Amino acid sequence: MPSLGVLLPVLLSSIWFLRRFVYSTEKKHESRDWKLPPVVELSETDIYQHPQEAYQAAIEKYGPVVGVVRKNQLEYIIDHTLTAQVLTNDAMFSFEHATLRMLNLSVLLSLPRSFAKELDTIVQEDITANMDNIIETLVPIFQRHAQSLKLSRSKSDPIAVDLESVVHLMMAESMLTLIFGKRHATPENIHAVENVAADIATLTGIFQNMGYFSRNFPSLWRRFIWVKITILSIPYYFRIGSIAFRGLGAEESNESDSILDKCAKRYKAKNQGSVPFLDKIWIIVVLLGLIFASVHQTAIVIVWVLFELATRPQFLEAFRKEVQESTNSDGDLCLTYASLKKAEQLDSFIREVMRTKGDTLLTTRLTTKDVPLAGYIIPKGSFVAPLATLSHMNKEYHGDNAKEFVGGRWVGQGKPAVMVSNSYFPFGLGRWACPGRFLAVAEIKMAVLFLITHATPRLKDNAYRIRDPLNITSVAPEGDLYLESLKD
Ligand code: HEM
Repeated sequence: MPSLGVLLPVLLSSIWFLRRFVYSTEKKHESRDWKLPPVVELSETDIYQHPQEAYQAAIEKYGPVVGVVRKNQLEYIIDHTLTAQVLTNDAMFSFEHATLRMLNLSVLLSLPRSFAKELDTIVQEDITANMDNIIETLVPIFQRHAQSLKLSRSKSDPIAVDLESVVHLMMAESMLTLIFGKRHATPENIHAVENVAADIATLTGIFQNMGYFSRNFPSLWRRFIWVKITILSIPYYFRIGSIAFRGLGAEESNESDSILDKCAKRYKAKNQGSVPFLDKIWIIVVLLGLIFASVHQTAIVIVWVLFELATRPQFLEAFRKEVQESTNSDGDLCLTYASLKKAEQLDSFIREVMRTKGDTLLTTRLTTKDVPLAGYIIPKGSFVAPLATLSHMNKEYHGDNAKEFVGGRWVGQGKPAVMVSNSYFPFGLGRWACPGRFLAVAEIKMAVLFLITHATPRLKDNAYRIRDPLNITSVAPEGDLYLESLKD
């Protein structure tokens, strides 16, 4: 009679084989049922000129998830019912993989540390947790740049201003000051930061929708852009890198409020008082990422809000009144983070601009495995993006007037511009929702308030042109903006 010692292993291995057999037949069986989502062919004109209508029509016809080839790449577009699932399940739909793949920087994923986590920590700990001081530092910068814009004294002969350039400069100086400290905010350094932000913006494909070559030969185009940036922008990276390198090597720092100094302190605490060479390189790369994340996007939204306000001057008085208490006897605005938070009407207007400006594919995830979604399988390594307008303009979420711009819609609703949900996600959603949104909204408010206390914004013919309908998030609208002086 065989002993238990012999029987037990035979029994266990039989169970193991049986399970493997059943599991693999089930899997084979299942896999025969697995379907890929329908792939819909959209013309170039549809995608680049009328993306909202074209993607929406495809979803209405074929269901909540459709594959569409754009720039030679198949991506999956989903409707509002799947948005929360895709944006918040980071284990299957990765923010970091998507972002780094888009930037051609997937190599960073093989490092034992996370680029996105490091950025997130810096923004949360050194910016968001410190907003009172940050706003105090930024107020004079915003005031000076707002005042640098030429006011039109005569209605019959107005002077158009280059708002986009001034706002970019203002944002570059602001972030340079916050990251490296006030003493580094020289014109040369500000220029370098502006260029770095523009380079990275170009790499993410911000202007890629607008050229024939970039749309049809995307891989070649990206390589070309990398080479161009490497050759032309080296001096800027070198300039910023060397400020950071020196700051991280300094024994003691005299700019203890700068983000660089705070990073240095954190790393020194872990490494017996010094920052190791590789950590210095790492911090520099992360800070370049921070420059990009903060400068360009905010500048674009400031332009959007001011253009929308120029076409709706009826809101100006209410916004001016909200900060009346913060005006000194000379008529100058003395803004603080507390007074900005109180500007609820302006906050509602900003939220409404961000909801209605028509963002389409504003945030993306990359599948980290074959993922089941709405009865289909999305293969590993696919880009998946919600069609934002389906949520932002949805009657189920926002009522019958969902498509209308209602500036005061959010007043008294407990939904400030920074609050994201699956019906409003211009700052993304889930684990990776923009950590800089508190600063961004405060900056937008400052820019608007410093301008409207001295002037009334107006647009020529009361109209603007959308330059890139597929990339409203990152490309500013175009129009002739005048700032009519409030003093005759
Ligand atoms: C109006 C201006 C801004 C807009 C519209 C915006 C929008 C976004 C969006 C859509 C994402 C991706 C979120 C997702 O996919 O779920 C994001 C991520 C991010 N944003 Fe912003 N952003 C703005 C300003 C800023 C500013 C001022 C900062 C820094 C101070 C910042 C820092 C970041 C960072 C670090 C991430 C990566 C996610 C993370 O590390 O948690 N953003 N932003």
